[in-house]
Amino acid sequence: MEFREQDFIRNAKPNQLPEQLVINASAPSNIALVKYWGKHGLQLPMNPSISFTLNQAQSLTTARLTALDKPVSEVLFKFYFDEKHQPDFEPKIAGFFNKIRDYAPFITAFQWEISSRNTFPHSSGIASSASGFAALAKIIIDLEKQLLPLKSDEYYNKKVSFLARLGSGSAARSVAHPVMIWGYHPNIKNTSDLYAVLPEFDIHPVFNNFRDSIVLVEKGQKKVSSTAGHNLMNNHPFKDIRKKQAFEHTLQMTKYLETGDLENFIKLTEAEALSLHALMMTSAPNYILMQPDTLKIIHQIREIRKNSGLPVCFTLDAGANVHVLYPENISKQLEEVLFSKINHEVIHDFV
Ligand code: PMV
Repeated sequence: MEFREQDFIRNAKPNQLPEQLVINASAPSNIALVKYWGKHGLQLPMNPSISFTLNQAQSLTTARLTALDKPVSEVLFKFYFDEKHQPDFEPKIAGFFNKIRDYAPFITAFQWEISSRNTFPHSSGIASSASGFAALAKIIIDLEKQLLPLKSDEYYNKKVSFLARLGSGSAARSVAHPVMIWGYHPNIKNTSDLYAVLPEFDIHPVFNNFRDSIVLVEKGQKKVSSTAGHNLMNNHPFKDIRKKQAFEHTLQMTKYLETGDLENFIKLTEAEALSLHALMMTSAPNYILMQPDTLKIIHQIREIRKNSGLPVCFTLDAGANVHVLYPENISKQLEEVLFSKINHEVIHDFV
């Protein structure tokens, strides 16, 4: 079933508020195969995207809620990461709370203490905003279930993604395994710009136990925020071509995931990673996030594939780190020919 924006608005007033509540949730990170790059309106994507969900990179979040005597206009909260108060993260969360107020007005009836940690190293360059906002969205939906008349599971699943999207676009895809599609595509059933969906088809078994090994070429903060990057797409000379390409790629990717066409999966995944970075390198102002070692590793991966025929490929996020994608049964060989020869930390994750 398709939901519209207004379906997620809930004006009902809770009967009675519990004085204290503790809600826990966890959510995974994800890596896009076809990239979301460019947005409009309230966090709506310029094009559809499709991702693998990363099983082991999780955000674990706890919210301790205390009912207020009367609701406030701005949500009162404090955010702790790894048990330390993190005021630097609070403006982004405050912005999120503001954006979701119409859809979850009950959040203003409590004072919030939010504590979060990740199962992956904080400085690893893995996008923690996707898993972080998805975990927070799950907490809000759990609260909605406790306070307001119940709705269908489908409604809640889609609303988690809808809310997460308003925190960080790619967070919309951090809610279910193993593959999610976000963004309306006329030829892919049930897709929406408002939330991500699971594909309607089964993912081919060659993608079971797929691995994403992340080579940490560069740790720490992104040099150019993804918000700034998305904005540069508005006047990008290749905007229309990119849109067309991403629509085509998303449809092709669903076909390869369904049929298990690894050869074309590899070609397309790498083409998408390079398109994303090409867009960055051709925007005004332009910028380069790849480092010399990013390119070195890309060449190594292509050499290995050419010489040994191993089905391994790379993708890139908005940074210098290389995500190496491959089926688990070639892990040992790749350790020998690739990972053991690289001078950077590698984090292994599973799809
Ligand atoms: O979720 P955001 O706004 O940080 O955008 C992330 C965009 C990419 O990670 C570069 C691509 C994607 O689809 O995840």
